[in-house]
Amino acid sequence: MKHLINIENLTTEEINQIYNRALDFEKGIRKANHLNAHIVNMFFENSTRTKMSFEMAENKIHTNKYDFIANTSSIQKGEDLFDTINNLSAIGMNVIIMRHQDNELVENLSKKNYFQEISFINAGSGTKSHPTQALLDFYTIKKHFLNLSDKTIVIVGDIAHSRVAKSNINLLKKFNMKIRCLAPENLTGEKIEGVEYFVSLKEAFEDVDIIMALRIQKERLQEKIDFDEYIKNYQITKDNLPYAAFLMHPGPINKDIEINSNVFELQNARTILNQAKNGVYVRMAVLDMILNAQGL
Ligand code: CP
Repeated sequence: MKHLINIENLTTEEINQIYNRALDFEKGIRKANHLNAHIVNMFFENSTRTKMSFEMAENKIHTNKYDFIANTSSIQKGEDLFDTINNLSAIGMNVIIMRHQDNELVENLSKKNYFQEISFINAGSGTKSHPTQALLDFYTIKKHFLNLSDKTIVIVGDIAHSRVAKSNINLLKKFNMKIRCLAPENLTGEKIEGVEYFVSLKEAFEDVDIIMALRIQKERLQEKIDFDEYIKNYQITKDNLPYAAFLMHPGPINKDIEINSNVFELQNARTILNQAKNGVYVRMAVLDMILNAQGL
């Protein structure tokens, strides 16, 4: 694996390989030392979980890591991103982990011939793709359920603006999971083949195994949202959460909007912090595979 840009490019074998390697890291069976690897974290959008778990993963597999801070970099003097990356490559960086608001930028950079020495990892691109989040969600689901093909997931909330939803749908379809999306019409976005769409929470939550709630992305909303109406019809509460359903959320959570605070005391919600924890093992696995492919 040279780059990790999106889920579409991964086979089920590669996804299972990442799963198994992450599991070995979690169990302590696998250790890695990449003392010659130099990794830059370039986050142009805010992040807590993705950035911190990549940093933890970089430390655990003994790489050299660098934080690129756009606001104090020469981008502020007008240098463009292509020149910036050319210079990072010349300095000797091997991997760039990038989060950016542009849907296509990291993919386009990974295709440039003159950045041949560098591997790119997409840490979230606009509203399009968040592959390591989908991989850690898959890891969390598979560890619990083992077989996915007879399971049903409902993804609830701001699907239109969610790169997490798109990457998860892409991945879980590969494993024949039954996928439902639940959102008001203005947050549904473009419909995806093979997904069942609902506007009624009661119908969507029938016989469901997993519920994945999504954050309403206020920073990306063009349209006005009636939050009282959203809460009335779509908020997950103690009363509407099916007893045995596994509750997931990629974070950050708008508490008392997509999930009522009273839900966090339930066993069902423990998954949410496990997702954050699992992100470290999955990112260790992805980095280890990419660095091994580079001979580092
Ligand atoms: N899930 C996720 O991407 O969280 P952060 O934005 O905090 O990285």
